[in-house]
Amino acid sequence: MTRCALISGRGMGLMHGGNFHNHPDAEVVAVCDMDSELLAKAEEQFGAPGYPSIEELLANCDAELVLLIVNETRRIPPLRQLLAAGRNVFTEKPLCGLEGQYRLREPDLAIAAPAISAWRDSELKFGIDFNYRFMHHFRKLHDDVAEGRLGEVRMVHARAHFNCWSHVIDQILWTMGTPVWVSVIGDANEAGGWRRLIHMGWENGAIGSLNGTNLWGHDDHPLRVMVLGDEAYAEARGLEGWYCRKKANSSEHLELWEAEAGNPEMPESFKRMADGVIKAMATDSPFPADGEAAWNELLFEAAVHRSALQNGARVFLADVESAAFV
Ligand SMILES: NC(=O)c1ccc[n+]([C@@H]2O[C@H](COP(=O)([O-])OP(=O)(O)OC[C@H]3O[C@@H](n4cnc5c(N)ncnc54)[C@H](O)[C@@H]3O)[C@@H](O)[C@H]2O)c1
Repeated sequence: MTRCALISGRGMGLMHGGNFHNHPDAEVVAVCDMDSELLAKAEEQFGAPGYPSIEELLANCDAELVLLIVNETRRIPPLRQLLAAGRNVFTEKPLCGLEGQYRLREPDLAIAAPAISAWRDSELKFGIDFNYRFMHHFRKLHDDVAEGRLGEVRMVHARAHFNCWSHVIDQILWTMGTPVWVSVIGDANEAGGWRRLIHMGWENGAIGSLNGTNLWGHDDHPLRVMVLGDEAYAEARGLEGWYCRKKANSSEHLELWEAEAGNPEMPESFKRMADGVIKAMATDSPFPADGEAAWNELLFEAAVHRSALQNGARVFLADVESAAFV
């Protein structure tokens, strides 16, 4: 039985806490929120003692896993505090964004770097909620690449509404590996989620594009990822669940999968992520999307930010990464 402590009495926190608490091998044994009303609500929901600060939680509770479901604008200080106290941590995405999740910048990478170093130097488990990895259609796309069903992968086409932004980047990195460089058209000083057209390239010669905006709605799928190989190409779309694979240079379907009506993948993916985290605790293996996944997504965004500020210059992720650890 994994003993969990939940930090957050707000919606996302209660949802994650509920998924872990309902898992047969996990239990929420303590809750924490600096807001006393939300704390009382969480205490009642989980029938567990509540603490108004992380210091008090750590002093009074020996839970081995902490669910840190706070916002990216204030994730890193508590993350460092929990790792320093020897606790395993599961958190939300993106890893760090002081201007919010649609405006990740290179300085956010530098803020997150000491937390990642501390985690890498520890024996602790740390992971992030890239729950789209547990949607059937995205896993099919990932497995196509991993198992060579597309032949040699040559190209990626992707686009996303900003509500799915961290996830679309994680999907590309999870399935394709981290690109070597990015080159970006967009004005990073534009207010809100600035429109961006990203080009990227991988070490093996594969190239790709990813476009982001929130000017369209969710009606035409808030994200799409297509991977094209020299034998076949495949696409995964949306949050309900849609996937197809076709022969290269042809419209002939090799496989088509769609979620049943009324049975969307999104809500299930959170429960499957909780199950994956608990299984990793039980088997002493890394979390399904661990600190490296959290770091790589932020590194990609930092490189995108740098390229946009430099008029679309080709920016190498390795250069951005070494600058973050200076
Ligand atoms: N995976 C997904 O598909 C998905 C979907 C929606 C949202 N999200 C992510 O979930 C996160 C939700 O965060 P939020 O906006 O609810 O967080 P938040 O910062 O509002 O914090 C949640 C609660 O925790 C408390 N809290 C924060 N820091 C604390 C601290 N140091 N000590 C004690 N209490 C503290 C706050 O009082 C608040 O009630 C965001 O990062 C968002 O991007 C992910």
